[in-house]
Amino acid sequence: MIELKNIQKAYGDKDSAVHALAGVSLTIKRGDFVTIMGPSGSGKSTLLHILGLLDQATGGEYLLENHPVTGLSDRELSRIRNEHYGFVFQSFNLIPELTAIENVALPLRYAGETKKAALARALGLLASVGLDKRAWHYPSQLSGGEQQRVAVARAIANEPDVIMADEPTGNLPSGTGAEIMRLLTDLNAGGVSLVVVTHDDHIGAMGHTRVRLCDGLVEAVAS
Ligand SMILES: Nc1ncnc2c1ncn2[C@@H]1O[C@H](COP(=O)(O)OP(=O)(O)O)[C@@H](O)[C@H]1O
Ligand SMILES: [Mg+2]
Repeated sequence: MIELKNIQKAYGDKDSAVHALAGVSLTIKRGDFVTIMGPSGSGKSTLLHILGLLDQATGGEYLLENHPVTGLSDRELSRIRNEHYGFVFQSFNLIPELTAIENVALPLRYAGETKKAALARALGLLASVGLDKRAWHYPSQLSGGEQQRVAVARAIANEPDVIMADEPTGNLPSGTGAEIMRLLTDLNAGGVSLVVVTHDDHIGAMGHTRVRLCDGLVEAVAS
């Protein structure tokens, strides 16, 4: 589904550039569960941001269903993200001024649903993560685990082909983290591709494809 060829990412200007990714080639197959591990600073978040079209590579090729994404406008990239990708971040990244249900409804509104339809569907999505009773709470009124469940509901709102998660359990106690991983692996069992960056060896080992990054390069891939 997604193919990266020799992807590079440099930050800063030529002389003092930091090469966060130094030539990464990686294939994400439909339905796969990919875990990405590696030391801090090895490029995991950079890679996930590029995979999610949240950031652009400075070199190499990104193919989506065999079509290069290079040259697509910001508007087209946003549409691909909203329709095909779901994101879960370590710090939940909910909008604090919006209630849980409004956060989940947001990508549906972007996709063109009416407010009424979006809220109705958002409530169903919150129910699917066990949080319908908290629908009208603000993020600050929810625990970390609850906020992350809202983030998962938001990530699946538009029935993505792939969910990309950057240390989704990093700010959670282990039991709560395990619940979040269960939600994600259940989605994967239902056919959604899953890419999870993690520091946790146990979660890393759960991947059907396990990628190890070091100094901006793929050190090993196991499957
Ligand atoms: N916006 C940025 N500007 C400059 N350097 C960055 C930026 N983001 C990341 N880096 C650098 O790129 C490298 C990889 O970072 P990152 O992808 O966040 O690693 P990881 O997620 O594996 O800890 C690090 O050396 C980091 O300091
Ligand atoms: Mg990181």
